[in-house]
Amino acid sequence: MRLLATTNGGLESIAAAEVEELLGSDASVHHRGVIEFRGEVEDVYELHYRARSLHRVMAVLVDDRVGTLADVYRSTRTAEVAAELPEATFGVVGTRHGSHEFTSVDVAERVGQAVIDAYRDATGTRLPVDLDDPTVRLEAYLHDDRFTLGIDLTGDSLHKRPYRVCEHDAPIRGTLAYAMLRIAGYDADDRLIDPMAGSATIPIEAALTAENRVPRPEFEPAFGALPGYDVDRFRRLRETPPEGSAAHDIEARDRRRRWRRCGRVNRDAAGLSGAIDIVDADARSAAIDADCVVTNLPFGIRTTEDVRALYADVSDRLAEGDVGRFVGLTTAPELLDVEPTERYEIPYGRLEATIVVREY
Ligand SMILES: C[S@@+](CC[C@H](N)C(=O)[O-])C[C@H]1O[C@@H](n2cnc3c(N)ncnc32)[C@H](O)[C@@H]1O
Repeated sequence: MRLLATTNGGLESIAAAEVEELLGSDASVHHRGVIEFRGEVEDVYELHYRARSLHRVMAVLVDDRVGTLADVYRSTRTAEVAAELPEATFGVVGTRHGSHEFTSVDVAERVGQAVIDAYRDATGTRLPVDLDDPTVRLEAYLHDDRFTLGIDLTGDSLHKRPYRVCEHDAPIRGTLAYAMLRIAGYDADDRLIDPMAGSATIPIEAALTAENRVPRPEFEPAFGALPGYDVDRFRRLRETPPEGSAAHDIEARDRRRRWRRCGRVNRDAAGLSGAIDIVDADARSAAIDADCVVTNLPFGIRTTEDVRALYADVSDRLAEGDVGRFVGLTTAPELLDVEPTERYEIPYGRLEATIVVREY
């Protein structure tokens, strides 16, 4: 079957590489933040307990070229909705990009009507709509003339990690942290330092990866409500002890006690007590010696002199230190005196951020 998966915008190539590694099938960009690939039901299970960079997985019901809302309706009517959907509430979310004489709400409404009509023709039952908390969520993408309708297999986004017990003021998503580790080429053999670790998201994702641990061990996927999926089999697969846990060397540094405490709470909640050193160190002065330095630098809406000085000092410590690869997320890359070997531009809330990569 054809599948879509959502991820952090700008990091589609990283998510595609992870899917290719897990499933052995080619993945490509559908549009910003969404990748497409082929897979079987077993692959859907695999992604839901092993994938670390994905937010949601969808099965494609329709992929067509359309010009009008009538085309959207006609295309949706061709989908095998009676075979794919249970008799339960459903809701459609529409996303539109390009120039059209209608809105994404119009697209969602046409899709919803076509689903109701197709299901009623096939079964005699009118499916109830629930836009707030549907059992089945359909995602309708209209990008220029490409119309793709997917059925959400995931439900609650996979980026919500259960170890996130203590909230930092400016945390990053576990999926973004993992993507940065992939960009760094992080491997369990590497010594990893996050010199400004806050609540330790990057170190925790690294340790979970090195130990081959499932990122969402209790996750209950939406596909449990859909025909053709065996949620008990999914749970059994997830509980199979993962192979190949490796020893690792991971250090989380922060100069503020409050965040070191927060990092410890999250580390312990992830079942990683003793697996990550959480250390009091100032990134402006502490020497740095690591195969991978992966960090999310502090930044504000306005650039203060303090931030400028911090970035200059961190750049000096990186240059003096013995560092293999540096991967840093910031909205002010121009303040880092680091010649990037690669960059990724990503949306960050209402800001644009850059992942700066430097291979030494
Ligand atoms: C953007 S936050 C990191 C958030 C983290 N990625 C997370 O998910 O929780 C930046 C962190 O850098 C720390 N920091 C700022 N200046 C520092 C310095 N000179 N040395 C060490 N840590 C510093 C702050 O205390 C803050 O926790």
